[in-house]
Amino acid sequence: MQINLERQPIEEVQTDALIVLVFQGRREGRLGLGEWFDSGEVSGKPFEMTLLHNVAGMRAKRVLAVGAGKPEKFNAAELRRALGAAIRHLKSKSIADVAVWLDAPQAGVDYVAAAVEGAVLGDFETDRYKTDKKDIKRVQRFTVAVAEGGPHLDAALERGRIVAEAQNFARELANEPPNRLTPMELAEQARRMAEEFGLEYEVLDRDRMAQLGMGSLLGVSIGSAEPPALIVLRYRPATASGGSVHLGLVGKGVTFDTGGISIKPSDGMEKMKYDMAGGAAMIGAMRALAQLKPSIPVTALIPAVENMPGSRAQRPGDIVTSLSGKTIEVINTDAEGRLILADAITYAQRLGCTHLVDAATLTGAIVVALGHYNVGLFANDDALRERVMLAARAEGEKMWHMPLEDDYKDYMKNAYADISNVGGRYGGAVTAAMFIKEFADPTPWVHLDIAGTAWLDEGKPFLAKGPTGVPLRTMVRLAMDWRG
Ligand code: BES
Ligand code: ZN
Ligand code: ZN
Repeated sequence: MQINLERQPIEEVQTDALIVLVFQGRREGRLGLGEWFDSGEVSGKPFEMTLLHNVAGMRAKRVLAVGAGKPEKFNAAELRRALGAAIRHLKSKSIADVAVWLDAPQAGVDYVAAAVEGAVLGDFETDRYKTDKKDIKRVQRFTVAVAEGGPHLDAALERGRIVAEAQNFARELANEPPNRLTPMELAEQARRMAEEFGLEYEVLDRDRMAQLGMGSLLGVSIGSAEPPALIVLRYRPATASGGSVHLGLVGKGVTFDTGGISIKPSDGMEKMKYDMAGGAAMIGAMRALAQLKPSIPVTALIPAVENMPGSRAQRPGDIVTSLSGKTIEVINTDAEGRLILADAITYAQRLGCTHLVDAATLTGAIVVALGHYNVGLFANDDALRERVMLAARAEGEKMWHMPLEDDYKDYMKNAYADISNVGGRYGGAVTAAMFIKEFADPTPWVHLDIAGTAWLDEGKPFLAKGPTGVPLRTMVRLAMDWRG
């Protein structure tokens, strides 16, 4: 999609369809919309679409009036959704050249970026492996039109493009089938991206991990013929900020989760291809950061494995020694995410990361607790939690603060090793987080359980069904807003 910014009066915008926002309870008299408003045919309700042809005085061939909801509730996140919905509506009608008109209150940097993001994210489809593409439509040209505004708007347009394209890249990875996207292939995709955008890249293979003593990670991978990989991507700012902050982004990269010997039911198992969505989001975040250049160093670590049953697979009852030295009794081989994150987090600390955020499709329990609308957020540090929360709010990625207290540790007491990898029936998302905390402490750390939010089973007006790319935008903003 080609993306442009144009400064001109609304009447002059030349396009096949010009998107204008209409708000609830605010009669829009321009563009002949007054009558429509009075008759109730246009009300401004969120995602309401009214397509008008040949509007008098307009060069645009069509005007699409898009409901934007109540004006007092409107913000950049709402604009992102409205644009996504508008783009999806228009491309279903084969309209390939689209523009949006942003009026003065919405002609600021965050709105311009959000408009571009909404359009790019809304255009995404999971059609990579469809051979018959004749029904599949894409928007070719997207223009943000404003009356006036300085170069900061051009920069915002560019930022929106970079972030949304990175998010679609992460969604593409999460949607890859597990026979194609093996741990090594994920590493290869990360390598290619790193080369294109100028990041340092390293991959630790099985031998290297064995040498270091990553028994917890390797235990998960041992049942699969596909070798594991610990992917490391590094961004360093050109001019040292002088500060001592070094952000580490750790993403769960299970390319397929059968559950292992504690095998999952077959119903819906195919969805476990997205058990690497946390890893994909962190790789995607690095793609954006390589271009946006934050002032602090950022390192992403993605432990990539396939969790399979088999004659060599890890058994319930196995005891493994993690990189940290702690021993773990594996009670359930399906609780594999925490096992690979433990070693990746210890390794991140050894690389000098001072602050850690992990994103993982970790537990079914978080889906029970929060449904598909909020990421479960756990933290051992209030300041870092606040930073992540603020970034998430600004990016419209909803997160809910969950408890993390020592009481829960009792559930993971273990007679034969230092700790057990499951906590029992209750509070499954909390015990999973408590397990990781054992390895993250004392480094300030936030854990994001994205099992309910990384994948949409049903499409939204503004987003295709499938991978969402959450929490990529929050990670990008977190790094960009940090002054080390
Ligand atoms: N990958 C799953 C969690 C998951 C569930 C992701 C639903 C996406 C959607 C994870 O590895 C897992 O299997 N967790 C177990 C943990 C249990 C055995 C303690 C779970 O949640 O059932
Ligand atoms: Zn599992
Ligand atoms: Zn898993």
